[in-house]
Amino acid sequence: MKAGAVGQFLLLFMACSMLHTGSSASGNETDRLSLLDFKKAITLDPQQALASWNDSTHFCSWEGVLCTANNPRRVTSIRLERRGLAGQISPSLANLTFLRNLSLATNQFTGEIPASLGHLQV
Ligand SMILES: *[C@@H]1O[C@H](CO)[C@@H](O)[C@H](O)[C@H]1NC(C)=O
Ligand SMILES: *[C@@H]1O[C@H](CO)[C@@H](O)[C@H](O)[C@H]1NC(C)=O
Ligand SMILES: *[C@@H]1O[C@H](CO)[C@@H](O)[C@H](O)[C@H]1NC(C)=O
Ligand SMILES: *[C@@H]1O[C@H](CO)[C@@H](O)[C@H](O)[C@H]1NC(C)=O
Repeated sequence: MKAGAVGQFLLLFMACSMLHTGSSASGNETDRLSLLDFKKAITLDPQQALASWNDSTHFCSWEGVLCTANNPRRVTSIRLERRGLAGQISPSLANLTFLRNLSLATNQFTGEIPASLGHLQV
């Protein structure tokens, strides 16, 4: 009876820690995927501003990207002014839940700024 209770407790504990790692890993993974979606929607990058946006380094070291200091590190800022970038601004940026600063001035994006980004200062 006692062993059974301990066993149940252990199971519950394991289930909780699995859920916990699952949710904390998904936040920064969402950030990585959202940034890659943003890159995918860029059709012209004459200065290779996004060349560092690849999986050889953590997304927090990608050019123009700033993150929170603590783990799991989340994107707080994207600054890519005057890079001659053209294309669409991907609505995936709305999934960067820690993003506060998005600076894309003096590029040549076409189309609308996605409505989902309405809470940001662009
Ligand atoms: C990936 O990014 C690194 C810098 O972070 C750069 O040196 C390298 O050339 C990039 N690779 C590609 C395929 O663009
Ligand atoms: C995402 O966060 C988890 C939990 O903190 C960490 O183990 C993992 O290395 C992080 N991955 C990236 C790409 O930051
Ligand atoms: C945002 O994240 C959700 C859940 O992961 C996903 O279904 C959706 O496609 C993402 N939206 C964009 C615009 O990337
Ligand atoms: C956003 O950018 C402004 C101007 O560069 C800066 O003063 C501010 O600290 C930034 N905020 C965040 C949260 O990075």
